[in-house]
Amino acid sequence: MSTNVILLGPPGAGKGTQAKVLVEQTSLAHVASGDLFRAALRDGTELGMLAKSYMDRGALVPDEVVINMILERIQAPDCAEGVVFDGFPRTKEQAVALEEALAKQQSSIDVVLYLGVPSDVLLRRIGGRQTCKTCGATYNRYYFPSHRPGICDACGGELYQRSDDTLETAQHRLDVYFGQTMPLIEYYQRQGILHEIDGQREIMWVTEMMLKALNQYLPTSA
Ligand code: AP5
Repeated sequence: MSTNVILLGPPGAGKGTQAKVLVEQTSLAHVASGDLFRAALRDGTELGMLAKSYMDRGALVPDEVVINMILERIQAPDCAEGVVFDGFPRTKEQAVALEEALAKQQSSIDVVLYLGVPSDVLLRRIGGRQTCKTCGATYNRYYFPSHRPGICDACGGELYQRSDDTLETAQHRLDVYFGQTMPLIEYYQRQGILHEIDGQREIMWVTEMMLKALNQYLPTSA
């Protein structure tokens, strides 16, 4: 039996930050649609170029493209014990496609952890985010900067700002979230699997709440 969890929330809510900690503390794999697109772009693939044309505008990549990519990714051996989905699903069509694919493997989504954070806080977090080009570690200019400006504490790699983290694009990403992704909150609420966590609180507190909510679905205690 596998354990599958969705991290749902607006851009900047802390999904990526929390997913990294959750997979360190469990046997689950981290499947992040945005990271997969950015990796495809770094590799210079057609998928990467296509995704970039949407990401740079803060628009959603078409459902069919995202769904195919994710359903292929979850066939990998590291997903056998379950997955932390980060940034997917983002539309009802994606949610249904995931459910159907998991059902074919006699599996399902166990819990959806929804991180609520107000828009002004999100825009500040996104504007301050810096990511390591080498290891992917995330920092924040306002909340927890790296010790040496522009240099990753963990590996010495160069920090960069995502091209979709400008104020204008971030604002559009939020609008897209409110229009296209927020309906999933009610969708999962109706299924009785939505668990809300205050994403405004400090990172360690949020992790603790997530592990508490997830614990009952894990084969062994996290
Ligand atoms: P994606 O990469 O998924 O971005 P996102 O969902 O917009 O989320 P973010 O990565 O911006 O935020 P996060 O919640 O992970 O926050 P983080 O932990 O980094 O998607 C990018 C694009 O790809 C989309 O716009 C779309 O074009 C495309 N795409 C991806 N998936 C798709 C899909 N399914 N369908 C269609 N298109 C898709 O934290 C943010 C900052 O805040 C960091 O600096 C962090 O250090 C800080 N922080 C985190 N938690 C806290 C806290 N508790 N207190 C203070 N600071 C915090």
